[in-house]
Amino acid sequence: PDTPPARIGIVTVSDRASRGEYEDRGGPAIRQYFEDVLTSPWEAVPRLVPDDRGAIAAALVELADAEGCPLIVTTGGTGPAPRDVTPEATLDVAEKVMPGFGELMRQVSLRKVPTAILSRQTAVIRGRCLIINLPGQPRAIAECLDAVLPAVPYCVDLVG
Ligand code: MTE
Repeated sequence: PDTPPARIGIVTVSDRASRGEYEDRGGPAIRQYFEDVLTSPWEAVPRLVPDDRGAIAAALVELADAEGCPLIVTTGGTGPAPRDVTPEATLDVAEKVMPGFGELMRQVSLRKVPTAILSRQTAVIRGRCLIINLPGQPRAIAECLDAVLPAVPYCVDLVG
């Protein structure tokens, strides 16, 4: 029997991209990454939200609970600036925190850029969904996802 394609939520968090002041490059980079690495059918469920804690949390809840995404990846808003609140919004909707994801992604990123220490990216479980934060830099996407991807299918299996 045909299994339905896995739905992957892709959330770009950016004030300027959400206002149309510049193009969202993070969301398409995540989509391209999964197109390149995934061998089984999947479907992107993209969202573009401003750096607003409530708006980010609402998008995560919608993708996890209503859209039934087993995996959501966010990009942007993980730094120390006043408007960077993606980790807080992610923790707002969390049932469990998965600190190993952020630890590993920072460690791998530090080999590329010393500023990797500035990302507060984390990962959490909500229901049957794993939510992973990535920094906003498009080049950070493959660097971070390459590091954690081997553990993602098993994690999604354990919560599903
Ligand atoms: N990680 C990787 N792999 N590559 C990067 O270029 N940029 C860093 C860091 N992590 C970066 C990275 C920088 S400069 C910042 S400020 C933080 O991620 C937070 O970025 P964000 O606020 O866009 O999420």
